[in-house]
Amino acid sequence: MDIKRRSFIKGIGIASPLIGGAFGYKKAIADILNYDPEKAFGFSENHVPMNAANLCPMPIAISRSMARFNDDLDFDMSGSNRSRIVSIKENAREGIAKQLNVKTNEVAITRNTSESNNIIAQGLSLKSGDEILLWDQNHPSNDVSWAVRADRSNCKVRYFSVPTFTNDIENITDLIKKQISPKTKVISFTHISNITGFKLPAQQICEAVRGQNKNIHIHIDGAQTWGLMDVDLNKIGCDSFSGSSHKWYMGPREIGLLVVKEPRVENIWPNIVSIGWGNSKDTSADGAKKFEAYGQRDDASLAALSETVKFHEEITPRKIEHAATKISEYIRSALIDINVKFVSSNNQQFTSNVIILEVLRQNRTQLLKKIFNEAGIILAGTGGLRLSPHIYNTTDHADRVVRAINNNRDLLG
Ligand SMILES: Cc1ncc(COP(=O)(O)O)c(C=O)c1O
Repeated sequence: MDIKRRSFIKGIGIASPLIGGAFGYKKAIADILNYDPEKAFGFSENHVPMNAANLCPMPIAISRSMARFNDDLDFDMSGSNRSRIVSIKENAREGIAKQLNVKTNEVAITRNTSESNNIIAQGLSLKSGDEILLWDQNHPSNDVSWAVRADRSNCKVRYFSVPTFTNDIENITDLIKKQISPKTKVISFTHISNITGFKLPAQQICEAVRGQNKNIHIHIDGAQTWGLMDVDLNKIGCDSFSGSSHKWYMGPREIGLLVVKEPRVENIWPNIVSIGWGNSKDTSADGAKKFEAYGQRDDASLAALSETVKFHEEITPRKIEHAATKISEYIRSALIDINVKFVSSNNQQFTSNVIILEVLRQNRTQLLKKIFNEAGIILAGTGGLRLSPHIYNTTDHADRVVRAINNNRDLLG
C-alpha cells in the first residue's frame, strides 16, 4: 500500500493479536493493524464515511460477531443459552467502567445518548423554582428535553454561551459561574459540540461549579466524546455522562451508555420500570442498573458490544484518541492551507475531531452532493460543512475531501 494511503491507526504500535477466527475483536484489530485497514470496515472507497459525529461503521469482524450471537440465539433458545449470551453484557459493563475510570455499578447500558440524556432530564428530582443551566449548543435531547421537564415541574431554564474564538479556559469557567444562582440545581452541557466542534474544558468546568456549590448535579453529554477521547470520568468529576456506541465507539447501533455516580443514583427516578427492576417499589437493581430495567433487549447487540469493548481495551483508548487526532489535525491544517473559513475553533485547547466550515445554508445540500460525487466522501451539513474523521479514515480520504472542497469553494459563500 502506498504510504499516502495508510491510515494513522496502523502506526500506533501494538502487538497484533493472534487471530481466533473470522469474527470477533481480535480479528477486527488484526484487520486494522496488520492487513489492510481499508478492509477492516465494510464501506467502499466510493462511499467513505467521514461523519463519525453522526454514525460510525462497526469493524466487519464485530458485525460478524453480532450475526453469530443472533444465530446462536435462534439455534438454541433454551434458558441456559439465553442466560449465557445475556451475561456477556456484564463483561461489557465491566470493561466500559474500567475504560472510563468509574465503578462497574455506575454504568447503565441504555439505547442511545438521547435516552440517557432524558433519563437525567426527566428523572432528576427537582422542585418548583429550581433552575437548570444549559450550554446553548446542547443537542435537542439535552436541551428541548429540559424545556419539557421545566414545564412539568415549574423550573426555569437558563443558558450559558461560549464565544467560539475564545482563547482562555478561565473566560469559559467565569461566564458559567456568573450564571449559577442559589437556585441552580443542575448544569448540563455537551463535551464536544456537534454544531461547532467546540470542546468544552469539562474538568475545569466541574471544578468551577463544585467551587461554587458542590450539590449541583453536573451532567455531560459525551455523544461526541465516548470512543474518541481517552475519557477519565473520575478526573473530570461530573455526576453523570451519556454516549452512543454507534458513534465514535464504533459499536452496535441502538446501544447507549449512561454513567451515574453512585451517590447520585438515588436522586434520579427511572423512566421505565420492567424486568430488571425487582418486585417492589424499591429496586433490587445494583446502582445505575436501575436505569436499564427495560425487559427484553437485543441480546446479540449487547454481546457484540462486549467485543467492541475488548477491541478498545486491546488497542487502548489513548492510542485510538492519538490516531484519530492525527487524522483530524492533518485535515485541519490542509484546510487552513487552502484558506477557508472555520466555524470550529483552531485553538488547540478547544479543537476536536468535529471540524466545521462556514457554508451558506442554501448551498449545503448541493455542496455535500458535489463532494460526494467528486471525492466519494460522506460529510454532514450540521452547523456548516462538517467533517468528522475517525481511525478508519486515511490520508488519501483527507486529500480527496480537501481537494473537492477547494474545487467547490464558490459554494462555501
Ligand atoms: C451531542 C449529541 N448528543 C446527543 C445526540 C443523540 O445521539 P443518539 O441519536 O445516538 O441518541 C447526538 C447525535 O448526533 C449528539 O451529537
